[in-house]
Amino acid sequence: KIVLKKEDVETGDLVLINQKHTLKSKINNLVFFDEKYKNIKLNDNANYALHLILDNINAKNEIVPVSGYRTLGEQKNIYNTSLKENGRNYTQKYVALPNASEHQTGLALDFCIYKDGKCYIEHDVEDKIETKWIHQNSHRYGFIIRYPEGKEDITKYSYEPWHLRYVGNIASNIYNNNLTLEEYKDKESIK
Ligand code: DAL
Ligand code: ZN
Repeated sequence: KIVLKKEDVETGDLVLINQKHTLKSKINNLVFFDEKYKNIKLNDNANYALHLILDNINAKNEIVPVSGYRTLGEQKNIYNTSLKENGRNYTQKYVALPNASEHQTGLALDFCIYKDGKCYIEHDVEDKIETKWIHQNSHRYGFIIRYPEGKEDITKYSYEPWHLRYVGNIASNIYNNNLTLEEYKDKESIK
C-alpha cells in the first residue's frame, strides 16, 4: 500500500504538469547528473534513480541523458526553434509551451542511445533494444514513459519513447495498469 503525501502531489515527485496544469511551485533539489560535465541538471531523487539504473545494468556509456531540467528561457527557446524548424503542427504535438513542460521541474529527462559512435536521439531511439529495456524495467526505479503510444488523446502529446518522468514508487502501479499520470491521478482522485 502506498501512502501519498500532499506535498508530493502538489510540489513533489507526483506533480502533474501538462497543457492544463502549468508550473506553479518553485523548483528546489536540483543536482548535476555528472559533476564532471555539469551540463544536465535533474531533481535529486530522479538523478539518484537514474544512476541506480545505469550502475545496475552497467549502461553509463549507452544510455545518456541529453535533456533534463530546463529553465523557462530554455523551454521558450526550444519551443520557438521547433516552430521555425518543424512547424506548428509538429511542435504542438511534441513540445510543451513555456511553463507547461515538466522538464522545468527536473523530474523529466530525454535520453539518447549511444552506439556505433553515434548518439541516437528522439525517434531514433524507438527501435533500440536498450529503449525496450528501459520501457519494461525503469518503472522498478520510479520512472514512467510519460507520453505512451495510444494515449495521445489523454496526454495531448504524441508518443515520445525518449522521454522519462520520475514519479517514485507509484511508477510500477502506473506501468502494470497501463496508465498515464493523468489517469492515475483521476483514479486516485488526486487533484
Ligand atoms: N516534449 C515535452 C512534451 C516537453 O516539451 O516538455
Ligand atoms: Zn522530454
